Amino acid sequence: MSNPKILVTRQWPTGPQERLAASHDVTFRTPDTTMSHDEFMAAAETYDVIMPTVSDKIPAEFYPAAKGKVKMLASYGVGYNHIDVDAARANGIAVTNTPDVLTDCTADLAMGLLLAAARRIGEGERETRAGKWEGWRPTHMIGKKVTGATLGIVGFGRIGQAMARRAHFGFGMKVVFQDAWNVPNDIKAANGNAEQLGSIEEVAAASDFLSLHCPGGDATFKLINADIFKAMKPGCILVNSARGDVVDEDALFDALDAGTLTAAGLDVFMGEPALDPRFLKYENLVLAPHLGSATDGTRDAMGHRAIDNMEAFLKGDTPGDLVS
Ligand code: DGY
Repeated sequence: MSNPKILVTRQWPTGPQERLAASHDVTFRTPDTTMSHDEFMAAAETYDVIMPTVSDKIPAEFYPAAKGKVKMLASYGVGYNHIDVDAARANGIAVTNTPDVLTDCTADLAMGLLLAAARRIGEGERETRAGKWEGWRPTHMIGKKVTGATLGIVGFGRIGQAMARRAHFGFGMKVVFQDAWNVPNDIKAANGNAEQLGSIEEVAAASDFLSLHCPGGDATFKLINADIFKAMKPGCILVNSARGDVVDEDALFDALDAGTLTAAGLDVFMGEPALDPRFLKYENLVLAPHLGSATDGTRDAMGHRAIDNMEAFLKGDTPGDLVS
């Protein structure tokens, strides 16, 4: 492919943007908003490589329209549920993502949400800022003890394992998990002697905290539903840094109202950035705007990883992170 035309759909950090600009025919789209349907359809006829992000909703009509023109979707982000991988494959479009480089920061954020929800940090900050703090007292804003508690993990991939290590080695937590993959003993041992259980219900029943680390998409849509909330150990705290559509939000509110769920730390939401207004009514929810990978080093590394994938593809090599 001589002088391929490349589109970057959102603003990236400066370092990887400068690298791209220095050696490629690249269009950095502005403004920094999600691509519209019409923009995707126009891009299907214009660019050889598109570098979208996890917040770009690629329309179904894009794939057949892009056939023969767009050769690659080099996505910026590890999750790729915004891409129809089968449709891409069927229309000769390679797809890559950016795993590994965001594992630590996403697990750090999940641990932060767990701590904030357990220890009521958001609620306490709001009280302090509002000038409503009446001073120290033995019964003030009592939270849930983290050290030594049991953490359940749904999805024991890279980020789930990183969460297990933080919980076990940092906070002395016992870790149980569910994954369709039969995890080898050496991996369990290296990740805090984590114990694999047979179902999400079993994990929910055994856990004081339940943290989600599975991919998004059809297979996990509303995976955490009323049955899982019913199975939960009473008083459990939920952490979601995976994808919003993994949780049935009606069931989440029901569980909060019933008191089955004590609190939750959420970084992702169904239909984000639009938020169900009910979220704002609960003081015991810690709400973050999809910040899992949002650190300077990580967002740079994600851009470089996407470029590495694209450059390998353009050279005729198999990109390191080919998903389709
Ligand atoms: C991802 O990469 O999938 C995260 O959700 C954003 O970094």
